[in-house]
Amino acid sequence: MRTQTRRSGAYTLVASTMTALAVAASAAQAAAASGADLPRIVTQDGRHALMVDGAPFLVLAGQAHNSSNYPSALPKVWAAIKDAHANTLEIPVAWQQIEPQEGRFDFSYVDTLVAQARENKVRLVLLWFGTWKNTGPAYTPAWVKFDNGRFPRMIDKDGKTSYCLSPFGEGTLAADKKAFVALMAHLKLIDGARRTVIMVQVENEVGTYGVARDYAPRAQAAFAQPVPAEVLARQKASRPGAAAGNWSEVYGDYADQYFHSWAIARYIEEIARAGRAVYDLPMFVNNALRDPGPLPAPPWKSDFASGGPTYDVIDIYKAAAPHIDFTGPDIYMPESGKVGTTLERFQRPDNPLMVPEMGNAAGYARYVYQILGRGALGVSPFGIDYASYSNYPLGSKFTDRRMVEPFATVYAAFAPMARTWARWAFEGRTRGVAEGDDRAPQTVALAGWNATVSFREFQFGEREYLKDKNEYASGTETPNGGVAFAQIGPDEFVLVGQQARIKFSGSGANGGKPSMYARVEEGRFDAAGKWVMERNWNGDQTDYGLNLPAAPTVLKVKMGTYTP
Ligand code: DGJ
Repeated sequence: MRTQTRRSGAYTLVASTMTALAVAASAAQAAAASGADLPRIVTQDGRHALMVDGAPFLVLAGQAHNSSNYPSALPKVWAAIKDAHANTLEIPVAWQQIEPQEGRFDFSYVDTLVAQARENKVRLVLLWFGTWKNTGPAYTPAWVKFDNGRFPRMIDKDGKTSYCLSPFGEGTLAADKKAFVALMAHLKLIDGARRTVIMVQVENEVGTYGVARDYAPRAQAAFAQPVPAEVLARQKASRPGAAAGNWSEVYGDYADQYFHSWAIARYIEEIARAGRAVYDLPMFVNNALRDPGPLPAPPWKSDFASGGPTYDVIDIYKAAAPHIDFTGPDIYMPESGKVGTTLERFQRPDNPLMVPEMGNAAGYARYVYQILGRGALGVSPFGIDYASYSNYPLGSKFTDRRMVEPFATVYAAFAPMARTWARWAFEGRTRGVAEGDDRAPQTVALAGWNATVSFREFQFGEREYLKDKNEYASGTETPNGGVAFAQIGPDEFVLVGQQARIKFSGSGANGGKPSMYARVEEGRFDAAGKWVMERNWNGDQTDYGLNLPAAPTVLKVKMGTYTP
């Protein structure tokens, strides 16, 4: 049974809040007992939706800084989340803060967080910073951090103790699991009826830097065992003809990394399974990416965190951690080519695409169109928080509104139609592009139509009209264009984008036919999801394609063809 300690000063809840929580708790028990409307991920025809309150939900999130998980830090988080027009906050819950002394739990921060999220009308994705945070044990309680006997660290090939806790530490797993289960039980109690918390990330950027796997005796013994059948069924042997055998026999040069991935995935599975048995929220893991070079991925060479859920071991995670719904890429590679390849590799019929972290530098904002256009569950730039901290060069140099603004304008365009967009994505109607570093036009294939998206254009006229062919529209010095499309009828589209020109041409049944805009409406969706037309684009505004300005713009476009 969970014990709660209320140390003086640690608990900020007032009596009336406690009463309200108790009332909510009994409703929660009824709702959660039925499990009917709990958030969950559904899959159909290889596409996915995050169902929240019974309908697809688009996660337009921001992630707070690592140390903002305390009540007094929250005002600066809410302010940034509000400015960003985000509907979800991703924020840590640290093992060290909920169980500072073994067996004595303090959920005061969680209570404050959930109550304030409701006041701010945003949902929460909680990040469990337990055994591993960016691979290290920094967020474990002191009673874990410094007790190598009970909570062993990994041992490297030369017998040296690593910084990283071992996935073979049975005591560590039991203790982490106990704390996580206590957290999930508490969430069920306070939030089962309201479902403010919609997903939980289990651990944070797991794996190990500099050491391929654990070489301690327990790990060595497991390494010598046959590869489990469920892993073999998914992750093909690297050695030709090696249908079964131990890890080295089957996976050769890949054996260490694959074994470590399996060991960590199993550990996470145990925690996730136990947590979901108590309160069944969707759960996921996030990944510190390895470079998405050409396939097949070469064996680990100390070039990324071994054992993390990199794109090349998603199958091992699927085999070993069935209670994890997906692995999501943390995108801190600004290059458009790498972003595109990463999204392709993480989006699979068995792995919903969700970007749990992305740099908050302005250049990343255009990727929101590409990510949401691909039908992702959602996206979350990191550091959407006015704490005076900048994680430049990964993210923005700014820590104020200037950091939030590039994302805020995009989110503001999506926000009113977020539920509708999530449904369209689940139905496979959406596509998206972000301007590439090469600034080249891109063609989007839609049913019966191609849309060519070009960048750096002036809004009027064609490039050949210009005397100076190297003259470009101002504000396009660095790539910042993007467009997301939803095909809502055979010839009808909703598109949202910025700094881009779109031209439609017929394809398939419409191929070769002359076409025209039947109608181009600029407008927005209201809170009820109803289209509100603001003006009709025609004349100069359509003669040279649909030229979206720097401010994200939503258009409803109807195309038509005629007989030549
Ligand atoms: C990725 C991690 O998951 C985050 O917690 C944070 O440390 C960023 N990297 C860097 O700011």
